[in-house]
Amino acid sequence: MRLILLGAPGAGKGTQAEVICNALNIPAISTGNILREAKANKTALGLEAASYMDSGKLVPDEVVINILKERLKEDDCKDGFILDGFPRTVPQAEALDKMGVVIDRVVDIEVPDEKIMARLSGRRVCEKCGSSYHVEYKPTKVEGVCDRCGGKTVQRKDDSPEIIKDRLEVYHAQTEPLKDYYKKTGKLVIVEGQEEVADTSALTLKAVEA
Ligand code: AP5
Repeated sequence: MRLILLGAPGAGKGTQAEVICNALNIPAISTGNILREAKANKTALGLEAASYMDSGKLVPDEVVINILKERLKEDDCKDGFILDGFPRTVPQAEALDKMGVVIDRVVDIEVPDEKIMARLSGRRVCEKCGSSYHVEYKPTKVEGVCDRCGGKTVQRKDDSPEIIKDRLEVYHAQTEPLKDYYKKTGKLVIVEGQEEVADTSALTLKAVEA
C-alpha cells in the first residue's frame, strides 16, 4: 500500500500515520520529522530548513523532493509506505509522479481552522523521543515530563498562535489545491477529523482498507 496523508497542519496526519504504520506494518515517512531531526543535528540541510520551518513557510520544493527521493530508495519502502506531509505543493506531487511512484490511496483529514488552532497551540512534544501531548486533551502525568521516556516536553517554535495562522494560510494557498489534483485520479478519500483520536483512526483505517 502506497498512501498519502493530506490535511492542514495539526489535522492529525502524524497521529494517524502511526496508527496505520502499526496496522499495516509499513513505514511512515514524515518530511517534517526528517527536517526537524536535521535541524536538531545542525546539519547543512537543517540549518537551511530552520528559518522556513520556524516562520511557518514551506521549505523549497527541490530540497524536500531530494530528501524524499533518497528516503524512498531505502529497503523498508519496497512493500509500501505512508507519506505524512509530502507532497505539500502541486510541483511536489508532479515530482512524485515523475519518479514513477504509483499511489494507491490519498486520505485527506479535514479539520476546521478553529480546531487546529486549539490543538496546535496546546501541543507539547518531548525533546528526547518526540512523543506528542496536549496540555488539555492529552496531558503528561507530571507537567513538562514525558510519560514515555522522562524527557522534557516543550512547545514547537511553529506552534505559537501567530505562526499557526501563517501555516494555515500557507496550507490553504499551496497544499489544499492537492485535493483537486488527487480527486482527478479517483484516489482521494475524505475523512472528517473527529473529537476523539480513536474515532478518527477507525475512519482512517476504513478508508485505507476499503
Ligand atoms: P510537519 O511536521 O509536516 O508539520 P504539519 O503538517 O504542520 O504537521 P503537524 O505535526 O503540526 O500536524 P499533524 O497533522 O501531523 O498533526 P498531529 O497528529 O501532530 O512540517 C513542519 C514544517 O516542515 C513545515 O511547516 C515546513 O516548513 C516543513 N515541511 C515539511 N514537509 C514539507 C514539504 N513536503 N514541503 C515543504 N516544507 C515541508 O496532531 C496535532 C495535535 O492534535 C496533537 O496535539 C494531537 O494530540 C492532536 N490530535 C490529533 N488528532 C486529534 C483528534 N482526533 N482529536 C483531538 N486532538 C487530536
